Amino acid sequence: MERQSILAVNLLLGGFEPLTTTTAPQWVLTDNSDQIQFPPTTPGGWPKKRPLVIWHGLGDNYNSSGINKVKEIYGQMHPNMYILSIGLDESPIFDERRSIMGNPSNDIEYVCEMLTKNGELDNGFDAMGFSQGGLFLRALVQRCPGISVHNLVTFGSPHMGVLDLPLCSDPGDWICKRRNEYIKRNIWNDAIQRTVVPAQYFRDPNDMSKYLEKSHLLADLNNERTINTTYVTKLQALNALVLISFESDTTLVPKYSSKFYDISPETGKLINYKTSVPFVNLGLSKLDKEDRIHFYSLPGEHMEIPEPFFVVIGYEFFGGYPD
Ligand SMILES: *[C@@H]1O[C@H](CO)[C@@H](O)[C@H](O)[C@H]1NC(C)=O
Ligand SMILES: *[C@@H]1O[C@H](CO)[C@@H](O)[C@H](O)[C@H]1NC(C)=O
Repeated sequence: MERQSILAVNLLLGGFEPLTTTTAPQWVLTDNSDQIQFPPTTPGGWPKKRPLVIWHGLGDNYNSSGINKVKEIYGQMHPNMYILSIGLDESPIFDERRSIMGNPSNDIEYVCEMLTKNGELDNGFDAMGFSQGGLFLRALVQRCPGISVHNLVTFGSPHMGVLDLPLCSDPGDWICKRRNEYIKRNIWNDAIQRTVVPAQYFRDPNDMSKYLEKSHLLADLNNERTINTTYVTKLQALNALVLISFESDTTLVPKYSSKFYDISPETGKLINYKTSVPFVNLGLSKLDKEDRIHFYSLPGEHMEIPEPFFVVIGYEFFGGYPD
């Protein structure tokens, strides 16, 4: 929707959003008011803000205290905004399990159906994903024909995969470590690929042929086998892609995965996102040239997000009006 008509709507409603200009705009009265497209309204008559869909990370659930805190922050900032936290099961415990064990391709299809049927999302929405949730939201943008995502915000997401499995929260937990070692040794085993969620975004730049042959999710999602032009078109239709990384991240290995950096197998050096194969093959260079990719770097560990930062993101990218 055009800025002009948003201002007009604000004016009609008594200007509940501060105008950013210091000089008063010069209004020209015209008689084409029937051509102005007003945003959808709530029963109370207030314009509805663009909804927000959140997808949590590995080992978290849709109703955790962290997720509910985020919902609370944005609920206060944008009182008229519909917020949905994605869960794969009504029960938070089962939802959490399914973030670790399962087949994300099936889950993405299931969520696609759920979101497509949800009437609240008919006019599009913004999306925010934590860690693997951000990757799955990107998958939704690429694979789900019935939805329209405006801004996609991802926090520390494994867009370029992981070299280590982020499964042990306690480093002294040797049972967990042994299990990880076992999974890592058998990472390309079909049963593991089908059932262990993070195995499906495992990617080792030193062992690309196995990855290209066996990866159940990421190699397809990143257009590394063939270029799926639907993926390109859908990503290029985003208004903004926001990639947030954590400078002291030890959970996401390598941490640069969150901003599409690759590692050269020959030199071991970082490859800038601009030339990494998935970034180019997904057509993201176009978004980059048009300044529609926004990079933020936070100083802390994985998912250490200061509350004021949520507010910054909330003002920059959420709470707009549907197109
Ligand atoms: C979600 O969390 C709230 C607050 O902790 C709790 O009251 C509610 O029962 C939870 N919902 C489910 C389905 O567990
Ligand atoms: C490209 O992706 C879309 C959406 O997932 C899928 O329907 C289509 O079959 C894919 N095309 C090819 C050539 O793989």
